[in-house]
Amino acid sequence: MYFDLAPKSRREDLFNFEDVLERLKHGIESSRIVAVLAPRRYGKTSVLKTFLSESGYPHLFIDARRIIVSEGFMNIRGFMVELSNALTNFIRENRSLLDRFIESIKDINGVEISKSSIKLSWSKRNRADIASILDRLQRWASEQGQRIIIAFDEFQELRPLPVKLTHMLAYVYDNLPNIVIVVTGSQIGLLYDMLSLDDPSSPLYGRPIYEVRLRRLSRDEAIEFLRKGFEQTSIKVEEGFLSKAVEKLDGIIGWLTYFGWCVSTEHDLSIENVLEKASRQAVNEIEKFLKASRSERRYKVILKTVAEKPLSWSLIKRALEAREGIEIDDKNFTKLLNQLIKLGFLEKTNHNYVIPDPILKKGINDLM
Ligand SMILES: Nc1ncnc2c1ncn2[C@@H]1O[C@H](COP(=O)(O)OP(=O)(O)O)[C@@H](O)[C@H]1O
Ligand SMILES: [Mg+2]
Repeated sequence: MYFDLAPKSRREDLFNFEDVLERLKHGIESSRIVAVLAPRRYGKTSVLKTFLSESGYPHLFIDARRIIVSEGFMNIRGFMVELSNALTNFIRENRSLLDRFIESIKDINGVEISKSSIKLSWSKRNRADIASILDRLQRWASEQGQRIIIAFDEFQELRPLPVKLTHMLAYVYDNLPNIVIVVTGSQIGLLYDMLSLDDPSSPLYGRPIYEVRLRRLSRDEAIEFLRKGFEQTSIKVEEGFLSKAVEKLDGIIGWLTYFGWCVSTEHDLSIENVLEKASRQAVNEIEKFLKASRSERRYKVILKTVAEKPLSWSLIKRALEAREGIEIDDKNFTKLLNQLIKLGFLEKTNHNYVIPDPILKKGINDLM
C-alpha cells in the first residue's frame, strides 16, 4: 500500500527509488559512513528500512525521534533503552549468532541479559560500555566475514546526549572495519555541524562520508504515484484531480502519501481540506521547534516575511528591523538566517531566500 503513513519497509510498498536504493547499497559496500540526506518527508526512513529489511545485512536500527517521543526530550536513558531494543532485535533476527554473541557480551559492564533480550544500564555508576559492545560486534562480524550496519535515523537529534558520538563514529571508522555506520538527517546543516568534518580538532576530520541525497518526485512521477496509490484503494479519481493535487503538493512524497491517505480514509475529495490539515501539521511541528529557541519571535518574523514572497538578505533584514523598530547587527541577522537554513526550513536560491516546502509555506502564511 502506498498510502500508508508509516515509513515503508517492504519493496512492494516503495514507489520508485531504485536509484536511491542502489546508491545506498553502493555506499554501504564501499564506505564506512553513509549519510542519507533530505528534508523531512522525502522518504529517508522508508528507503533505509526497506534496504535493511531486504538486503539481509545484520543491523542495528536506532530511531532518534522515537526516543524524543517516548521520553519527551533526548536523554541518555532513552538512548540506552533504544540501543537495548536495537541489540535485542539484532539477536532475534540473527538467531544463529544468539549464543555466541550473548556469550561474548555478557561480561561487559552494565549489560544485562535475560532470555533473549539485552538490557543496557544507563545509570552513571554502572553505564553500559558502548565501545566494548562495538568491539564484540566487530569480532562477531569479522568471524562471519560479514558487514554489520548500525543505522541512526535522524542522527542530529542525538546532539544533546552526554555521549561523545563523533568520537564513537571515529572509533568505528578507524578500528572496526566490519561495521558500517548509516545516519539519516532532515536537518542537514545541523548534522554536518555535529560531524564537523572540516574542523581539524574534530575526531572525524578528514574522514570521507558517502552521501545519498533524496530528491523530490518530478511532476509526472508524482502523478503516477498518486494514480497507482489510488488504484490500490477503492477510490476512483480523475486525472485532473491528480494533477491539481500535485500542483499544490509538489513532488514531496510524504505530502503526496498524506494526501492519498486522507482522501482514501475520509472519502473527502476536497484538496483544500487536505492542504489545510497538512499545513496545520507542518506549522505545529515548526512551532514546537521554534518555541525552544531564544530567538523565536525573530525567526517567526523572518519566516512570515519569506513565506509571503521570496526576498533578498537585505530586504528580509529591513522587514525585521521595521517590525522591531531597531537596527539589527548584520552578523546576528545572518546567524538567524543560517540557522533556519541548517534546520531545513529556509533555502537560498540565487539571491533570494525561499521556504522550499509548499505546505509549510502555506501554513506559515495562513496560520502563523
Ligand atoms: N518511495 C515511497 N513509496 C511510498 N511511500 C513513501 C515512499 N517514501 C516515503 N513514503 C511515505 O512518505 C512519508 C514520509 O516518508 P519517510 O520515510 O518517513 O520520510 P523521511 O524519513 O524523509 O521524513 C511516509 O508516510 C512514507 O510512508
Ligand atoms: Mg524519517
